[in-house]
Parts: sequence; C-alpha cells; structure tokens
Amino acid sequence: MEIPFEDLSIKQNIEALTKELHHHNYLYYVESTPEISDYDFDQKLKELQQLENQYPQYADPNSPTKRVGGDITKKFQVVTHEYPMLSLSNTYSKEEIIDWENRIKKLIDGNPEYVCELKYDGVAIGIKYRNGEFYQAVTRGDGTKGEDISTNVRTIKSIPLILRGDFPEKFEIRGEIFYPLEAFTQLNKQREEAGEELFANPRNTASGTLKMQDSAVVASRGLDCFLYGVYGEKLPFTNHFESVQKAGDWGLKIPKTQNRYIQKCQSIDEIMDFINHWDTERHKLPFEIDGVVIKVNNYHQQEELGFTAKSPRWAIAYKFKAETVSTILESVSYQVGRTGAITPVANLKPVQLAGTTVKRASLHNADQIAKLDLRVVDEVFVEKGGEIIPKVVGVNFEKRAQNASEFQYITHCPECNTELIRKEGEALHYCPNQASCPPQVKGKMIHFISRKAMDIEGLGEETIEQLYAEGLIKTIPDLYELTQEQLLPLERMAQKSVDNLLAGLEASKQVPFERVLFALGIRFVGETVAKKLARELKNIEAIKNASFEQLVAVDEIGEKIAESVVDYFQNQENAALVAKLQAHGLQFEIEEKEGGGSEILKGKSIVISGVFEQHSRNEYKEMIETHGGKNVGSLSAKTDYLLAGENMGPSKKQKAEKLNIPIISESEFLAMLQS
Ligand code: IVH
Repeated sequence: MEIPFEDLSIKQNIEALTKELHHHNYLYYVESTPEISDYDFDQKLKELQQLENQYPQYADPNSPTKRVGGDITKKFQVVTHEYPMLSLSNTYSKEEIIDWENRIKKLIDGNPEYVCELKYDGVAIGIKYRNGEFYQAVTRGDGTKGEDISTNVRTIKSIPLILRGDFPEKFEIRGEIFYPLEAFTQLNKQREEAGEELFANPRNTASGTLKMQDSAVVASRGLDCFLYGVYGEKLPFTNHFESVQKAGDWGLKIPKTQNRYIQKCQSIDEIMDFINHWDTERHKLPFEIDGVVIKVNNYHQQEELGFTAKSPRWAIAYKFKAETVSTILESVSYQVGRTGAITPVANLKPVQLAGTTVKRASLHNADQIAKLDLRVVDEVFVEKGGEIIPKVVGVNFEKRAQNASEFQYITHCPECNTELIRKEGEALHYCPNQASCPPQVKGKMIHFISRKAMDIEGLGEETIEQLYAEGLIKTIPDLYELTQEQLLPLERMAQKSVDNLLAGLEASKQVPFERVLFALGIRFVGETVAKKLARELKNIEAIKNASFEQLVAVDEIGEKIAESVVDYFQNQENAALVAKLQAHGLQFEIEEKEGGGSEILKGKSIVISGVFEQHSRNEYKEMIETHGGKNVGSLSAKTDYLLAGENMGPSKKQKAEKLNIPIISESEFLAMLQS
C-alpha cells in the first residue's frame, strides 16, 4: 500500500501508540506491575481508537482497541488441530502417583526430572501465533477438531496480541482460560441485582462466556488464563520447563516459580510435597484448581514414553477430592430478594471446612430440599467444591433421630406474611407483594439508586435503610418528595449532605431513559435488555402497551423477559409508580441523537466485511442500527447486503455472489442513508 507523505506521521503515531499500549497491557495483566494509571491508559486508548476511526487503513486487527470487543460471531468455524489435544490420566490416590513414578523410572534410563503444575479448572485453549502476532484461538472440542473462538479470546487482556523478544515464527501455545473468583462473585452480584438466575460455578460460566456471540460481553467479563505448553516444529528448547519460561519471555502469561505455581521436582518426595502444599493452600488462590499435573520434563524422555490412545504416558493428574464435612443442620431460614425470590439457607452448627468456619450453606430451592430429604435436626454433609458458597450435599441417614420431623417448606413470606407463589416450571417461590414487602421495597430502591442505574450522588444503601426506617420513603417516587425539613433532623445528615442528596436527586432527572428503565428493576430486564427495549420501542408508553407478541418480536427479547415486562405493567401499583416518576420529570423516552436515526434500513440484515476508509467498522455498525437495520456476522440467504471495504476475503465475495446478495461499497452505503 502506498502511503501518502502527509499520512506518514499519522501511521507512525498509530504504531507508536499501539506499541506503547501493548506494553502497558503486558505490565498490567501479565506482570501485575503497572507503570501508568488506569486513567492515563484509557486516555491513550481513546486517542488510538479515534485515530483508527479516522484512518481505518492503518488499523491493525491485533490493535489494543480490539480488547473491548464488539465483533459478533454467529457460528464458530470448526478447525482441525495440528497437534491433537489430548487429556490426562487422572487419579485421586497418592499410591497411584507413586506407581506411575516407579513405572517411569523403569521405562527410561537415569533419574528423570519432573515438573509439577497446578491443574487449572477452566477451559482448554490452543492459541496460534504467527510472526509474533495472535493468529487463532481454538477450543479443545473432541480433541481432534475444535472451534475457532478467536474474536472472543482476543478480548482477554492477559493474552497478548503482539509478542515481544525472540519468539519462533510459528507456534501454538496451550493453556487454560478461567473465571477468576472475584470477577465471578461480582458477575453473580450483578445478576442478582437484575433478578436473573445465578451462575452455578466459575468453570461452566467461563465455558459459556467463551461461546457467546457478542465479543463485547466476553470483554466485560474479566476472564483470565495460564498457558502451559508450547507446540511447534524445531522449537529452540529441549525440555518442558524451559519452553514455559521462554513463553514467559515472549510476553505470554505463564505460571511463576516464585509462588510455586510451577516447580521442578527431582524425586517422588518433592512431588508429594508439592501435592500436599496445594491440597491445603488451594483455597487461598484467586482462581480454582482441581488438582496438580506432574509431567516428565525432558522432551526426549517424553518421546520415549509416548502416548496411550487418550493421554500421554509422560504426564499424570492428581485430582483433589472436594472437601466434605458433616455437621448439624440446626434450622433453615429464608431470604427474600429484591424481586421477591425466596432463597432457603441452611443454618449449621459451625464447622471448619477448606480453611474457613462455615455456619451457613445454600440449599437452592424447595426441590433441592425435597431431593435431599432434609429434616431438622439432621446431620448433613457439607461440601466446598466448584462453588464459592458451600452447599449441603447429603444427609447422614444413619444418624437421623427418630423424632426428626418431615420438612415443611414455608407457604407465607417470612417478612410480610403474604402467601407465596410458584410459577409452573420455575424452581423458586416468590413473594408477590412487590409493593410493600420490606426487603423487596428496600432492595428495589437500592437497585434504583445504584451506579449503573440512576447513580444518585449523595445517596447510598445506608441512607436508604435510614430513610425507610424513619418512614420517609415507602416507594421509589417518595425519594423525589423528600424535603430539607424532613432530612435535616436525621442523624448523620448535616446541611451539606442534605444539599448533596437533594441536588443528586434533581440531577437524576436527566438520566437517559434506558437507565431509568433498568432502574425500575423489572425482573430479567438487566442493563442490556433495557437498552434494547428503549432503543426499539422508544418510550415508556410503547413498552407499557406492548403485547407479549410485540415484545418477543424484538430481537434478543425472549418469552421469559416478555412475560415479565407484561406482568410488571399489568400490576396497578407498578403502573402508578411509573406515572408518579413521570410526573416528577424523569426521562421516559429515548433521546434521539443529532443527525438522528431513520427507518431506511428497517428489516435489513447487513454483513460488514473488509477495511474502510471513511468510518470504522464499529461506526458502520452503529449507523446500520440507528437506521433500523441489523448488523449480522455471517452471510446467509437472509442477508440483504454485504457492505464491503478493502481486502475483503475472496470466499466471502464468492459466497455473496452465489447467494445473489448485493455487494455495496461504503460510498454507496452512505449515499443510501442520504436518500
Ligand atoms: S497438560 C497432553 N497441564 O486438564 C496433556 N493440562 O485432563 C496436555 N489442565 O485438557 C494437558 N491444567 O484442559 C495440562 N497444568 C496443566 C493443566 C492442564 C489444567 C487441563 C487441560 C486438559 C485437561 C486434561
């Protein structure tokens, strides 16, 4: 590509910023030693994004801006592994580890050296690099063929898009992608706030996340990885340990010897010491492991030992047993959530489990209790496995007392005494008294003011509790009727806090409609769904009057959400609440952007491909949506147009021609919008 002279400095600028941001990413996510503030990083990233938007011809598919995602994959392509992705033989017994080590010693000459590693409980991945650039990431699949999930893996910030140092031209690195525990707890907290069902464990959630179509969602989830195996032709090392260290030099995230995530061992005693160390210490890790892996270090020796049909003879996994203890179930209590969902909780006689004292355990729902055949008082088994909250897994029937009475699930709300309901096909009981059941009312208010909803300055959870206890707020609209005279006499309410609070409430009247809609706390209407509904239906009247059929016709709105929206507005109290908020001047219709949308592309499916001159891909995507169209990931008979830029792949072009899909250039597309 010939570069005009005046563009040279722009191209250099883009390259310099790209390099700098890759470096800071590495320091932050791989080394955990950042050198600049998050703010400065974001500013630089924004600057790069703007330059790329303006000069897309110089944008790199591995640019640090790709970390935020946005590309959609409708169907992941199946890819054959260059090296089959095998599994490991597993054992739960230390004797078998000893037997394995004895066998190894008999099969090869000399005293072999071993490498002990953690067995990460995540999703296996193979990532290919070409000339130091991220090329492709493929799942394990059936071991022979996996799925290309590159667009999603590109958003994981600890996986470098550009390597450093002296890397081989072509190689593959394998490892495990996992959900860090803190991020997982955070995710479930958000889901609880949106009234959505919680994810059961980090491993399955990591796996589900990696298969999502929208890479922007993947980017928001905070997945992480550890890489543990290098594959390729003529690689410059003779043993496994060295290969991992070298991969670290190339900027890849590898387990470190300093914290004993990886260790060379010379004897069975050293191996056992590693196993015993992690059997107790694993609970302190910020991610989950389910065992340790022991590998013969030397590549020649590995070759000598070879493979069985499914796994290498040179490696073995020792799996930890989920820790179980038995204790007394003293009682069951019930929590009422913001949406009225009832969660039963087991109150246990305190017991030590996996390094902490456990007093409570989750029981999930009535079916689970029935399945376990629980009684109070029973002796129960409690386990801490893949989940963070311990759970009751069984009853010690031998110790059941004669007089232990059969379990009765509650029929009325423990907080407001309203009769509970349970919808067909749902696991949870609900308290239907949305309008005046205290935890529901308070929970809804706390959700309403939260950061992602109305984000009201000067008003936090504690103040809500206080105002509710004082009887000053009974429903959300009451917030907007608070006066200085009511607030000043309260404890911890000086003039300044009162001014702040009232100003915060006033300012919240400008919060855009989609956030107001999310703030209402309609079950299953999380942030994304609220945005979708607001954009499609434009104002609260339309949403309120929409039928179930109209709602499910909206892209991405399923039956469960539609039913919940209809139910919400059919409830007179909710309708009255919304009317009051409208009267207080909150935003209840979408603000159309300047130069705004149209319906020109209504019902049209458009695929974007190639590199563009005038706008970025993301901008074209937005334009399609603001003009009523839909940007889809791959061509099919239902596609209406292929918006093609430079360097579009020949197979895409052929496919479009075969399917008779009009191929339009960016100027043709822009002209179409003008018409
Ligand atoms: S080595 C040929 N090392 O466990 C053997 N695997 O049961 C290649 N895993 O599919 C695997 N941590 O997903 C290896 N340090 C580690 C591992 C590890 C987790 C997973 C991996 C593999 C499965 C085998």
